[in-house]
Amino acid sequence: MLNVNGTARAVDVDGETPVLWVLRDVLGMTGTKFGCGMGLCGACTVHVDGQAVRSCITPVESVDGKAIATVESLATNAVGRALQQAWTELDVVQCGYCQSGQLMSAAALLAENKAPSDVQIDEAMSGNICRCATYPRIRAGIHRAAALLTASTSKVAA
Ligand code: FES
Repeated sequence: MLNVNGTARAVDVDGETPVLWVLRDVLGMTGTKFGCGMGLCGACTVHVDGQAVRSCITPVESVDGKAIATVESLATNAVGRALQQAWTELDVVQCGYCQSGQLMSAAALLAENKAPSDVQIDEAMSGNICRCATYPRIRAGIHRAAALLTASTSKVAA
């Protein structure tokens, strides 16, 4: 039994099937993209128990019972909403193909580190390739999302 974005999903597939294809072809969740198929470009990034993983090289049997989160879940949590707002404000996306993976890596980073430095951002995002070279806007978007999260936390605390 899979747990995808908080919902239990029963799937009948070979255990070695990559999570990417279960999401896209079996569950119809096409927000997660196929890029290289070798875990090298990051387009297929999802979270497994909060960690960013490459779904194209992750066998579905290895995530049984674990919490899988995809880009479709971003709007359901504060970090995801801050990233969506920042991405929109700063017009981060160019062609967009890599961006669901970029957002999921950024979300994993911000969940652990609410105010990452440029170096920490570059380290966390180094496995996500963007063929349009939107890297400066991705970095700025993560800083903006971090600022939005800080502002909303201080508003709650005030
Ligand atoms: Fe085009 Fe990243 S926005 S590949």
